[in-house]
Amino acid sequence: MMIERLFKKKDISAVLNEPNEGRSGLKRSLSATNLVTLGIGAIVGTGIFVITGQAAALYAGPALTISFVISALGCVMAGLCYAEFAAMIPVSGGVYSYSYTTMGEILAWFVGWILILEYLFACSSVAVGWSGYMLSLLNGWGIEFPQQIAGATFDHLKDGSWVWTGRIINFPAVFIIAIVSAFLIGGIKQSAFVNNIIVVIKVGVILLFIGFGLSYVDTSNWVPYIPENTGGYGNFGWTGILRGAAVVFYAYLGFDALSTAAGEAKNPQKDMPKGILISLLICALLYIAVTTVLTGIVNYKELNVDAPIALAIDRAGSGLAWLSPFIKLGAIAGLSSVILVMMLGQSRVYYSISKDGLLPKVFSKVHDKHGVPHNATIFASIVTGIIAGLFPLHVLSELVSIGTLMAFTIVCISIVILRKTQPGLERPFKTPFVPYLPLLGAAICIIQMLSLPWSTWARLIGWTILGFLIYFTYGIKHSKLNNK
Ligand code: ALA
Repeated sequence: MMIERLFKKKDISAVLNEPNEGRSGLKRSLSATNLVTLGIGAIVGTGIFVITGQAAALYAGPALTISFVISALGCVMAGLCYAEFAAMIPVSGGVYSYSYTTMGEILAWFVGWILILEYLFACSSVAVGWSGYMLSLLNGWGIEFPQQIAGATFDHLKDGSWVWTGRIINFPAVFIIAIVSAFLIGGIKQSAFVNNIIVVIKVGVILLFIGFGLSYVDTSNWVPYIPENTGGYGNFGWTGILRGAAVVFYAYLGFDALSTAAGEAKNPQKDMPKGILISLLICALLYIAVTTVLTGIVNYKELNVDAPIALAIDRAGSGLAWLSPFIKLGAIAGLSSVILVMMLGQSRVYYSISKDGLLPKVFSKVHDKHGVPHNATIFASIVTGIIAGLFPLHVLSELVSIGTLMAFTIVCISIVILRKTQPGLERPFKTPFVPYLPLLGAAICIIQMLSLPWSTWARLIGWTILGFLIYFTYGIKHSKLNNK
């Protein structure tokens, strides 16, 4: 009896007919273009502005371009599965909602809890990155920001101990989260508009770098294109390219957050697959082009720096110096939109779980005028703000990848399950080569998860235990599905 309750599934047709999503609830106002720009807004961030240089210097050299292609293929496999789900079940909550129909309540709760982990830590880690860029920009303008409020309160040392850094809080990180939340509460249309402007700025800056940088390329920097392996797995050569692919995977994250907004798309059946796949493709092309120019201007050995694109501009000499402040501005704008879409994702997951009764009802209340889940957004911003204000980047970013990979694996496997269990469902978009492509996608994600350190797994286990405590003390008693 208990087991039956735990694994009870929602009926897809009931989900689609829920009085939701548009009429008494969220507003459907996102066009196909909005979805593509939201996707790019979520994807292009720290990955390209920081990680590219480090991955080229440490693992793959100029052949990091191949790493970007391999990583994109892995993401496209998951992306195709996301596209099938988002078109078939176009409601808020993304993978959480899909799992409720395929694997039952307790696993859906687990997935929702993992999604909260992914978006919460992605948002807070990018906010900490934003704070770093902002402080460096202010510094460049001769503005001294008070040190007491310019960094994390705590740090986690290599020996495993926690220390107080002497600082009160990372104020700029809290500040950007508050600003982004204010836009999100103002309405999805307004948020999409702000995101569009940001995307134009960051893509514009990247295109300027590619266009003007090309003439400063010294082709001898591309030789050897695949530097010889220096011993051991991952140190250049083909294994270096593979390790590079795992590292730059972070640069593609974000397209999945788009699926949580399917309940707000005007024409989700047609537009969600477009939004997910086109934004992924555009980002892959941008990344490959940036890496080509970057490793052409500066030798890969020198690229292990915090701001590799800025370094390339410096190297190009006075001819490109004018571009330098734009790059910083592009990075700051770029990180803001990643925070925006990840925060949107987080609040929509709270909203969807609460609508099913597994979290308190207050989170699924939709603002009468703005048509957004304002309580869920405020709650998300408070939790994210506290975490971003107190903890350093390296602690936060670890948890992002494991959460995302877990979600990707579940989506890929769910596609195979649903094709078997409900073959007759209307599927406006179909993932090709089922079951091979989704199973390969799941296998790639599982391999990447297994390569993560034990400490990350330990934190994931701790997070999961906390999640189940909440489910068994609250969710199970209030579940709408089980208490009809
Ligand atoms: N893809 C996002 C970034 O690179 C997470 O910042």
